[in-house]
Amino acid sequence: MAGSLFRTKSIDRLMSDGGEGSESSLKRTLGAWSLVGLGIGAIIGAGLFVRTAAAIADRAGPSVTIAFLVAGLGCAFAGLCYAEFASMIPIAGSAYTYSYATMGELLAWIIGWDLVLEYAVGAATVAIAWSEYLNNALGFVGMSIPYEWFHSPFQVSPEGVHGIINIPAVVILFLLSALLVRGTQQSAFVNGLIVILKVAIVLLVIAIGWGFINPANHTPYVPAATTYTDGQGITHSYGGFMGIIGAAGVVFFAFIGFDAVSTAAQEAKNPKRDMPIGILGSLAVCTILYVLFAHVLSGVATVEDFRSAGREASVAFAITKYMTGYAWLSKFVTIAILAGFSSVILVMLLGQSRVFYSMSRDGLVPKVFSEVHPRFKTPHKSNWLFFVFTAVFAAFVPGDIVGEMTSIGTLFAFMLVCIGVWIMRHRRPDLARGFTVPALPVVATLGVIVCGLMIYGLGWTNWLRLGAWLLIGLVFYFMYGKRHSKLNAG
Ligand code: ALA
Repeated sequence: MAGSLFRTKSIDRLMSDGGEGSESSLKRTLGAWSLVGLGIGAIIGAGLFVRTAAAIADRAGPSVTIAFLVAGLGCAFAGLCYAEFASMIPIAGSAYTYSYATMGELLAWIIGWDLVLEYAVGAATVAIAWSEYLNNALGFVGMSIPYEWFHSPFQVSPEGVHGIINIPAVVILFLLSALLVRGTQQSAFVNGLIVILKVAIVLLVIAIGWGFINPANHTPYVPAATTYTDGQGITHSYGGFMGIIGAAGVVFFAFIGFDAVSTAAQEAKNPKRDMPIGILGSLAVCTILYVLFAHVLSGVATVEDFRSAGREASVAFAITKYMTGYAWLSKFVTIAILAGFSSVILVMLLGQSRVFYSMSRDGLVPKVFSEVHPRFKTPHKSNWLFFVFTAVFAAFVPGDIVGEMTSIGTLFAFMLVCIGVWIMRHRRPDLARGFTVPALPVVATLGVIVCGLMIYGLGWTNWLRLGAWLLIGLVFYFMYGKRHSKLNAG
């Protein structure tokens, strides 16, 4: 039925659409290990080096390590479902494309719209984190950025200075958007280098920091349940079970990006075998590193530190304050993080433009998002529009808020993916799958439950923001997408 909200794009049409245009020229060059590398390159970033401290301070204290396990578990369930989808529909576009084939146009729209939170708002979050470490790096040469120029108007320093705008975050977004417009995707070589740098920081901090753990900071490991009101005046559950699931929702940000591996399905040599390895492999490596890293960070510095001066550029802060004799490590970490965050932002901006490119070709968003630059062959207008969008968030909204919006939006998309794989097993059991989720009803249900638990833990302010975002999306869909959908043409 042409007007139905549940019309689906057939898999065959999907594959043939995916075969046209620029994406079809992507070469199949990536093996399983390159995919794990790609995953780790996109994953380790602000979630670990900035949001962990926020989760310790506001939600869970040292039990943030348990929160990482919960978040990792949720991602593993959803990751298995992503892997089945990716092995069945090995084309670019991620969760949006999958859901168009399974759950119909309306839900595909909701996911595509929701992915803006994951990719665009996520890029803004990492850009804000980047500006904290930039300020730290300038400190090495005796300079600093005045507080008001790298904080949002909703933030106040301990000395009572109000933020105005976060300029460095806007600048880094501008530079990376300009790179994307010119078609500069990160080369495999640079990505490899950055992966090594990021893993090196994590391993060094774990190995050296372990000796500086103060057992008093780990006692009690799970703080008693109470509440804590953060700098923006928002009250969170702190400690106990609620503290852990709230923290899991916050540090879930650190796992975002493993699904980016699924968007590279077209470039995989053997997608049916390599996609699951790429997705689950990068997830496993990161979970182990994160738990150890968080154990060290919460052991070296105190919760009070992370509630005050140590909240920003937290890793460098903890090293400088408590790990005497390791000033070099603090410097190395700061510089490496600046490079590492840039690569995460680039991947997220690229993911955003790809999803809107697909949606635009399906007619659900205006054509401008798939207009390609005559010379660079990139969706340049889309890149610039998303620069403006991400820059507004990065300039004027605090990192905590955009970070939690990214988490809740992505968690919601993951839940829909878990449900979608299940639906697809029933509707199209005939389709060849390189990878099938073992015990699907159990895995998909657990995926929905664990992700749902994290959404619950994030609290009502975040539910409200997600609801408002989805509502705006629905208005757009009914005013524009539904009428312009290519499926209207039959
Ligand atoms: N997982 C990515 C990060 O932590 C988005 O920055």
